[in-house]
Amino acid sequence: MLQRKTKVFLLLTVTFVVYVVYTWMVRVKVVMAEVKFEEDDDGFLYGEFPNSFQWSVATSAYQVEGGADQGGRGASIWDHYSHVGGIADGSNGDVACDSYNRHKEDVALVKQLGVTSYRFSISWSRVLPTGKIDNINEEGISYYNNLINDLIAANIQPVVTLYHWDLPLALQNEFGGWLSDVIIPLFVDYAELCFQRYGDRVKTWITLNEPRVVASGYETKDMAPGLNKLGVGGYRSSYVMLKAHARAYHTYVERYKQTQRGRIGITLNCDWGVPHDATPLNKEASTRFMQWYIGLYAHPIYVGGWPKVIEDNVGEKSRKEGRSESRLPAFAQAELDDIIGTSDFLGLNSYTAVIVNHKRKQSPGLFTDSDITTTLDASWPPSGSSWLAIYPPGIRKVLSWIKGEYPGYGSILITENGVSETDQSGCFNLCDQFRVNFFKNYTNNVLKAIRYDGVNVEGYTAWSLLDNFEWARGYKERFGIHHVDFNTLKRTPKASALFYKRLVENNGIPSRGVLGGWMKEIEGECARENQALCGT
Ligand code: GAL
Repeated sequence: MLQRKTKVFLLLTVTFVVYVVYTWMVRVKVVMAEVKFEEDDDGFLYGEFPNSFQWSVATSAYQVEGGADQGGRGASIWDHYSHVGGIADGSNGDVACDSYNRHKEDVALVKQLGVTSYRFSISWSRVLPTGKIDNINEEGISYYNNLINDLIAANIQPVVTLYHWDLPLALQNEFGGWLSDVIIPLFVDYAELCFQRYGDRVKTWITLNEPRVVASGYETKDMAPGLNKLGVGGYRSSYVMLKAHARAYHTYVERYKQTQRGRIGITLNCDWGVPHDATPLNKEASTRFMQWYIGLYAHPIYVGGWPKVIEDNVGEKSRKEGRSESRLPAFAQAELDDIIGTSDFLGLNSYTAVIVNHKRKQSPGLFTDSDITTTLDASWPPSGSSWLAIYPPGIRKVLSWIKGEYPGYGSILITENGVSETDQSGCFNLCDQFRVNFFKNYTNNVLKAIRYDGVNVEGYTAWSLLDNFEWARGYKERFGIHHVDFNTLKRTPKASALFYKRLVENNGIPSRGVLGGWMKEIEGECARENQALCGT
C-alpha cells in the first residue's frame, strides 16, 4: 500500500518537475525572442529574417541622375515643372547627384552596403527623347547597359522601375500625358524596348511607381505636370495608368517571360490610417482612407474593378454635382479582364501613418471624396518632411491589411521605406541616430508582420541610397543614408548606412548585446566621418 503511494508520489513529482522545466524553457525561448526595449513600449523582436529575404536600396532617375542635357536625353515633365518655378527651393534636377557621370561610384556604395539588389528607374526620355519608339537614343540605352553590367559584376541584382514620374515632356504637350489612352501603346513600346535591351539581365521589373502620386500631378498643382484638374484629373489618369500597366504586364508575360525568366509587378504606396477613435463612423472613415489610398489601384488588380465604396461615393457626388456621368471613369468588361491579376508581386512603399476622422466634405476631389480628415499624432516624432511622422507599427499594419484584403497578393516586396531630415546650415551631422532608430524599428515591424502575422514579405528596400532631389521639396529634405554635398557632389556614409550594412550582413538584429556593440562602433565611425567632412 505504502509502496503504491510512493509510486504515485514519485510520478506526480516527476510530472510536476517536467511541467515546470518545460514552461521555463518555453518562457526562456519567448523571452529570448521578444526582449523588450526599455525606451520602447512596443516589444522588440530579435532574430533573423527568412533566408531568402532580399535587402535593397533605391533611387530614381530624375532624383539622382542629372545629366539633363547630356547624351541626347529629351526633356521630361519634371524638367519643365522645376524650371517654371514649381520647386520649394527654386532648384531642379539638372545636375542632382550627377549619377549619370558617377554611376560607378554609386555602384561601389551599393556594394559596400552588402545588399542583394539595387532599385533604380529608367528615364523614358533618356532612351526615347520624344517618348516614341521611332527615335531611340542609343547613348541613353548604353548608360543603363553600363549601370546594369556594373551591378551584376558586383553581384547586385537590378530591380528596375520603368516609370518613376518623369514622363517625356513631348507626350504631355502633345496629348495630355496620362489623361489620354494615346499613351497606352507608347508606354508599351517603351516597356518593350527595355525588356528587349535589358531583360537578359533584369529579372525584376516594376511598371509604375506610385500611380497615386502620379495622379496627384493631374489633380493638383503640387507635382508635375501640375494640371490642377480637381475631381477628374486624378481618377482619369489613374484609369489610364492601370490600363497601361496591364498592357505592359501582358506584353512581358506573353513575349519575354518564358525566355527571360523574370517577373513584373507594380509599386503602390500606402501609409496606415489609424481611426481617431473606436466609433463606427471613424472606423469606416479609416477603411475609406485605405481604399482611396491603395484600394483604387490594388482592387482592380487583385479583386477586379474599383472598390465599391469609391464607385458609390464618387457616383453619388457626381450626380449631386449635376453631372451626367461619374467623375470616376467606368471600366469596360474587356478592361476589367485585362487588369485583373497583373502583378507577379506587389511593390509597396510605406513611410508613415495618419489619424483619420470622418468628415463630410463638399468640394469634389481625389483627396476629398473619401469624406475624411487626416492629422499626424502629436506623440509621433516628426521628420524633415511635414507629411512624415515616425510611427513604426504603421508598416506592419499596412502589410497585414493587404494580406487580409487581397488574399491573392502572392508576395510583397517593400520597394521604399525611409525618413528625411531637413538640410542643416553649416556642418552636417552624419550621426543620424534618428534614422538608425527608424530603420531599426520599421524593419522590426516588418519582421513581426512576417513572423507573427504570416505576411509573405520577400524583401525590404531602404529609401534612399543618396540625398537627392526630393521632387517639389527640392534638396532641402534629405532622405539619403549617404550624405551628398551638392557643391562638390561628394558622397559620405551617414551612421544609418553603417547600421544598414550590419542589419543586412546579419539578416536582422541577432540580440540586444550585438545591437549595443554595433551602436558603439557606429558612433565612433560617424564621429570620424564628421571630422573628415567638417574638421570638427
Ligand atoms: C516616394 C517616392 C520617392 C521619394 C520618397 C520620399 O513617394 O517614390 O521618389 O521621393 O517618396 O518622399
